[in-house]
Amino acid sequence: MSKIDQSKPVLVTGANGYVASWLVKKLLDEGITVHAAVRDPQNDKKIGHLKELAKNATGEIKFFTSDLLKDGSYKEAMQGCELVFHTASPFFTDVKNPQKELIDPAVNGTANVLETANEVESVKRVVLTSSCAAIYTDAIDCQDAPNGVLTEEVWNTTASLDYQPYSYSKTLAEKKAWEIEAKQGRWQLVTINPSFVMGPALNAGANTSESLSILKQLGNGTMKMGAPKLGIGVVDVRDVAEAHFKAGYTETASGRHITSAHNTNFLEMGQVLLPKYGEDYPLPKKALPKWLLMIVGPFVNKLFSRKYIKNNVNVPFKADNSKIKNELNMTFRPLKETMEDSFQVLIDEKII
Ligand SMILES: NC(=O)c1ccc[n+]([C@@H]2O[C@H](COP(=O)([O-])OP(=O)(O)OC[C@H]3O[C@@H](n4cnc5c(N)ncnc54)[C@H](OP(=O)(O)O)[C@@H]3O)[C@@H](O)[C@H]2O)c1
Repeated sequence: MSKIDQSKPVLVTGANGYVASWLVKKLLDEGITVHAAVRDPQNDKKIGHLKELAKNATGEIKFFTSDLLKDGSYKEAMQGCELVFHTASPFFTDVKNPQKELIDPAVNGTANVLETANEVESVKRVVLTSSCAAIYTDAIDCQDAPNGVLTEEVWNTTASLDYQPYSYSKTLAEKKAWEIEAKQGRWQLVTINPSFVMGPALNAGANTSESLSILKQLGNGTMKMGAPKLGIGVVDVRDVAEAHFKAGYTETASGRHITSAHNTNFLEMGQVLLPKYGEDYPLPKKALPKWLLMIVGPFVNKLFSRKYIKNNVNVPFKADNSKIKNELNMTFRPLKETMEDSFQVLIDEKII
């Protein structure tokens, strides 16, 4: 158990990211000094929104140049911090070389940050942004979980370098983190394991997170003939930020935390938008049949391999979020609010 002093600075790696930006906002609003580690602090397109957030908050932000693949590059940013939020990790699925583009930065980057925590005496707790992807790969994996529901006890055993390498990268990175934590006794690891994150982006124009690309597909006509009833979990980005904050500052927080608000599917995510946006945007109205997806899916999107369709379409996702509700006192926004707020940002920013 570690009591974290809110008057000390905290490090956020990948501070400009979709999820991290909301965490930075929360920390700044609480009056906390944020050490924001980013790849390029000169790139205003990527970090300008964080500077703006700091102007309107009581906390202060300081930028540091850091790269997951450069050993020691988080050391300066970590000085004086009791708490480290390690969110940086590549999140995209269109990859040519998964080892180089996903696994190396996720795993070696996590080792880089945590080995630095071993060297910086002030660190008491590291909150790692892991993922439900470290728990499962396909919705069908839920059926193999005890009682058919994913819990914090379950680990992903089905992703590989060749199949869903992003999930593989998150699994290996979280395992590496627990391994490194176990070898020392000064700092404690707590993980937040979000399902698919939706919700308004603070920097939608410059954001490359996979979350936004799926949202765009719902609204730009890609799914106008229908959406697959593809089972996933969804959680609001603002709730994910809150979960990180609670994991950082709740003295008793420990272990992994499934951070997933709704057991849902792609079609339902589109359908909750219909009452407000259905007249003006080509949102999906019906389910695409699985047999059709099996035929055309692999040609439309290389992610939609037959194996992926078989294991996910018309297969319910089920995760148990009771631990985070009970132990960190988390509540979650309704799906409709999350989807409407996300979609409105794409409209306001003229992205769709
Ligand atoms: N979005 C989701 O649905 C979801 C769900 C579960 C878990 N997560 C996890 O949440 C975290 C944030 O994801 P996100 O959705 O916010 O995606 P994002 O906006 O793409 O953020 C990823 C962050 O990682 C940084 N990064 C990537 N490669 C790096 C490298 N080699 N060195 C330093 N920084 C690097 C990016 O920096 P640049 O901007 O410079 O590229 C960016 O700040 C990730 O750990 C992701 O796995 C996301």
